[in-house]
Amino acid sequence: MIKKNLKYILSLKKNNVVITSVTSYDASFAKLADECGVDIILVGDSLGEVIKGAKNTHSVTVDEICYHTKNVSKGIKQAYLISDMPKNSFSTKRQALANAIKITKKGLADMIKIESTPKQLEIVKHLIKNKIKVCGHIGIQPQKISNKKLYRKIGTTARETESLIRDALMLQDSGVKLIVAECIDSGCAEKIRNILKIPLIGIGSGRKCDGQIRVIYDIFNISFNGRPGFMKDQESHKNPLKDFLMSYLKSMKNNTN
Ligand code: KIV
Repeated sequence: MIKKNLKYILSLKKNNVVITSVTSYDASFAKLADECGVDIILVGDSLGEVIKGAKNTHSVTVDEICYHTKNVSKGIKQAYLISDMPKNSFSTKRQALANAIKITKKGLADMIKIESTPKQLEIVKHLIKNKIKVCGHIGIQPQKISNKKLYRKIGTTARETESLIRDALMLQDSGVKLIVAECIDSGCAEKIRNILKIPLIGIGSGRKCDGQIRVIYDIFNISFNGRPGFMKDQESHKNPLKDFLMSYLKSMKNNTN
């Protein structure tokens, strides 16, 4: 099986083929997603919530990202592997580069994702200059928000739309190769996607992005902090893993398994 590279992922936008992406944090779920043919696996700092049981992503460390990325890489034969730069891991050029090298060399990630602000563009450029492949993240940036109740749709006004377009173009011009768009109004996300040459991968941002990304535990509806609102009416399965486990435990109890 051939491993998907960046050239392949970029070709999907050109050919109007939707890019599929899910998070994984361990070898077994990564193997499952990989065998299903997913294009990108993200070791997201959502691991703070779904693995560590915290209320947000803020406590995740570079060592934890490296540990989970290395485990995930063992389950991958074909998917492209991206890992998050956790909060406070890219405050200076020097710190960002040292951590990005650690995540790509020790963790074996193909690319890092960074929730940078426009003021941190020099840091992003520094990583790219030093041969680190970078994915941007616009819209809601969970590293900046401690209470999930404060999440809202961004890009519902002309002013916000302009500012998001500006941010996305600045990232593209800096050499970023992919952008994740979180909780962006679907019309605004469509505008950004049409302006960008690089793929825009949405979560909670409507269907008109070049690709979609989901937290894998949200798909199975087993996330520690519950499923995000935008998924509630999208997926038909209520809780497939729970149903399976309940019936398995029942057969254990009855000695019939
Ligand atoms: O950490 C994560 O899982 C993410 C997704 C929400 C895109 O960044």
